[in-house]
Amino acid sequence: MIIAPSVLTADLADLASACQEAIDAGLDWLHLDIMDGNFVPNLTFGPPVIRALRKALGDGPTFDAHLMISNAEDCWEQYIDAGCNHLSVHVEAVTHLHRLLTAIRARGCGAGIVLNPATPVEVALEVLSECDLVLIMSVNPGFGGQSFIPNVEAKIRRLRNAIEAQVAAGGREVQLQIDGGVKVHNIAMLKEWGITNAVVGSGLFNDSASLSDNLDTINSALA
Ligand code: DX5
Ligand code: ZN
Repeated sequence: MIIAPSVLTADLADLASACQEAIDAGLDWLHLDIMDGNFVPNLTFGPPVIRALRKALGDGPTFDAHLMISNAEDCWEQYIDAGCNHLSVHVEAVTHLHRLLTAIRARGCGAGIVLNPATPVEVALEVLSECDLVLIMSVNPGFGGQSFIPNVEAKIRRLRNAIEAQVAAGGREVQLQIDGGVKVHNIAMLKEWGITNAVVGSGLFNDSASLSDNLDTINSALA
């Protein structure tokens, strides 16, 4: 399973060092939470900061941008130009989803969709063939450190079955990512449900232990 550190609960005044700490611990898939103060009630950072991070961290790490923004269809290319390798857009915020996913992939960038906890799974099944990743939110997006919402299980299991059917038919492999409240006590269960990529924020960046100690505990739970 890929562990994608969310730097939202890291020291945002020293973002590059927080990312570097994760990279040094062996995590090279960095989950960047982009919030616009409109789609979600919080505001983080955007393309200029991502560009600066890319310059500071080099070409190695995968930048996985989770776009919690209302106008992804207008500004998505800025995120690729700034150095993102994967863009995930919220289905609740995009009108022409199929068109956008195709356009993102045509730029050589991974394309993902995100479903809020209250969003039905069917929309993901309609565009699964155009996705490199599907992200299931297990909290309402906007803040780090929230509690996991367990009723995402059925959605995840249905998507796992749909992805396996797609691959068996010769179609694209799709990463199944989860985001929100993922901790050492639930990560093994998520793997069993079919998750292949887990975003972990406060479970890695917190005051009780170092990132590498937290990661060791998570890896033991997954072993
Ligand atoms: C929530 C973000 C998440 C979140 C993860 O809106 O998309 O990436 O910050 O943080 P934890 O793991 O603390 O829930
Ligand atoms: Zn996120």
